[in-house]
Amino acid sequence: MIEDAEVRLAEDVRVLPAEGTWTHFIVDTHAHLDHEDFDPDREAVIERARQNGVRIILAVGYDIQSSERAVEFAGRYEGVYAVIGIHPHDAKDAPDDAIDRIRTLASHQKVVAVGEIGLDYHYDLSPRDVQRSVFISQLRLARELGLPVVIHDREAHGDVMEILKGEGVPGGGLSGRYGVLHCFSGSLEMARECIKMGFYISFGGPVTFKNARRPKEVAAAVPQDRLLVETDCPYLAPTPHRGERNEPAFVRYVVEELAHLRGTSFEDIASVTTQNAIRVFGIPFSP
Ligand code: NI
Repeated sequence: MIEDAEVRLAEDVRVLPAEGTWTHFIVDTHAHLDHEDFDPDREAVIERARQNGVRIILAVGYDIQSSERAVEFAGRYEGVYAVIGIHPHDAKDAPDDAIDRIRTLASHQKVVAVGEIGLDYHYDLSPRDVQRSVFISQLRLARELGLPVVIHDREAHGDVMEILKGEGVPGGGLSGRYGVLHCFSGSLEMARECIKMGFYISFGGPVTFKNARRPKEVAAAVPQDRLLVETDCPYLAPTPHRGERNEPAFVRYVVEELAHLRGTSFEDIASVTTQNAIRVFGIPFSP
């Protein structure tokens, strides 16, 4: 595994611009920094992100342990913030006191959202009723804490929308920071509905895939003030790294693709998505 990582790193160094040539500020709003794929070189991954203008990374948990790790990384690394919660895949294994433990973790000042939470009817790794109840209790927790949410929705668009509507808008309802549909895969109509409810729409590697007709269509149409970028690393590496380990530095390919789809510049997308991320997650930042 370590050998593999070294091979990929050598390639990465070749394709990325040299240090200092990439001065734009980008926020990777969704990175699983705790993943074991990053164990051999996590510090180098974070440093490479920084050198490529990715100055803020949101480390996203999917269960209690990974949420604790996300908070640990946020404490350790400048520019890293934590998103904590129980993923639908892990809903079935959530301990009875999961909500209390997330509430306690959320008192850390670099926790910026509850996530990733939601429904996944593609893999169905947890029974659907368990997914729904864990999702709902975390939406309620987010509202109690005044935090936005990061939502995972895979082939569960109907139920996600019904729950969001039934629960009222979650998260920072008081502050208008509702949350994010991460790695958005729904229709333009669903995107519009979410935007109307106050949500932001985030795009990752799949929007760069050649055959991704629908994500490209939605990414071209989302209003500028609701657009976000992410990697979801180590998964879903964008073209031209499709199939490799993904990492925060690669978010630039998503920015490039959005610029292309929307007929604007890289700098424009970088700046707009950074301002949006800072706004929705309440990240303290002054350029
Ligand atoms: Ni994720």
